Amino acid sequence: MALRSLVAGCGGYLPSRIVTNAELAKRIETSDDWITQRTGIRERRVAAEGELTSDLATKAAQAALKRAGLNGGDIDLIVLATSTPDETFPATATRVQAAIGMTRGAAFDVQAVCSGFVFAFAVADNFIRVGQARSALVIGAETFSRILDWKDRTTCVLFGDGAGAVVLTAGEGDGSNKDRGVLSTHVFSDGRYHDMLYVDGGPSSTGTAGFLRMEGREVFRHAVVKLAEAVDAAIAANSITGTDIDWLVPHQANRRIIDGMGSRLGLPPEKVVLTIDRHANTSAASIPLALAEAASDGRIKPGHLVLMEAMGGGFTWGSALVRW
Ligand code: ACO
Repeated sequence: MALRSLVAGCGGYLPSRIVTNAELAKRIETSDDWITQRTGIRERRVAAEGELTSDLATKAAQAALKRAGLNGGDIDLIVLATSTPDETFPATATRVQAAIGMTRGAAFDVQAVCSGFVFAFAVADNFIRVGQARSALVIGAETFSRILDWKDRTTCVLFGDGAGAVVLTAGEGDGSNKDRGVLSTHVFSDGRYHDMLYVDGGPSSTGTAGFLRMEGREVFRHAVVKLAEAVDAAIAANSITGTDIDWLVPHQANRRIIDGMGSRLGLPPEKVVLTIDRHANTSAASIPLALAEAASDGRIKPGHLVLMEAMGGGFTWGSALVRW
């Protein structure tokens, strides 16, 4: 028998303030047409003043716990992915830990930008597989609105705020690809690509939080290749084909990238979960937000094969395959 991480519940939270493309077009030289055609984004959410990443994360975590029928005291691990922590330290995960009433186990952050959720998911899955945790909260939470240069039209139109969470609990399987639970995770990084996507500040460099900088066209070019590598790794490790997948739940950075991955796998568009039109790119939060949406509206059902993939700053990239 093999230890497996079962998905026990998902939850999401979005700040209430909606910023449409038309509203942005009043502030900077852009248009709804340009943003929609190049990216698929129509609107994004922006956190209220004083609403922190940990606030969004806590609400998403509480929603996921409720779905799982658990409370904070049942959890022994929190792995939270973010590039926009409340503070330089302590980890935002520890704020969530206190807020949900969890007083044992461990809580910490991981940082892999837009691939952060897949990295956090891999860490939690491995804790469960070796028996070091029995129930884990995996969270992606971001307030990218705080690190955007709102005068830079090439980046500020692309991102939004939000949080999503998944509860994993230990279960058993026979080790085959027919098992329920997390079947595989694959994570990669290559630090040589730093200059294509980074934040130009930090506690050790400028002493300020800094702003996001991106060579969009270059990132796009590399994303297509890296995502294919991550997806192929999941397919090969589990001896499946693209058409065995019931749901592709991709990181939501650009509609054109997502459509490209869907057709590469041979999936019809209705098998790809899309939130980019309403959420924009919420970095580490985009996959768990999409999972929460598709699980709660009944699209993802028990037994379905769900493939997640992401690519982000670093570069980092990765995939996870789950039988729901
Ligand atoms: N409104 C209007 N015009 C704009 C805007 C805007 N908001 N932004 C740029 N333009 C202009 C540019 O100035 C350029 O004008 P020029 O031709 O006169 O120089 C023109 O539009 C085309 O710009 P490109 O950058 O070539 O446009 P492209 O088609 O590449 O789309 C985009 C840009 C949407 C950023 C795309 O490259 C992309 O999605 N890249 C990938 C981003 C990504 O995947 N990130 C993932 C990781 S994110 C993370 O980890 C944090």
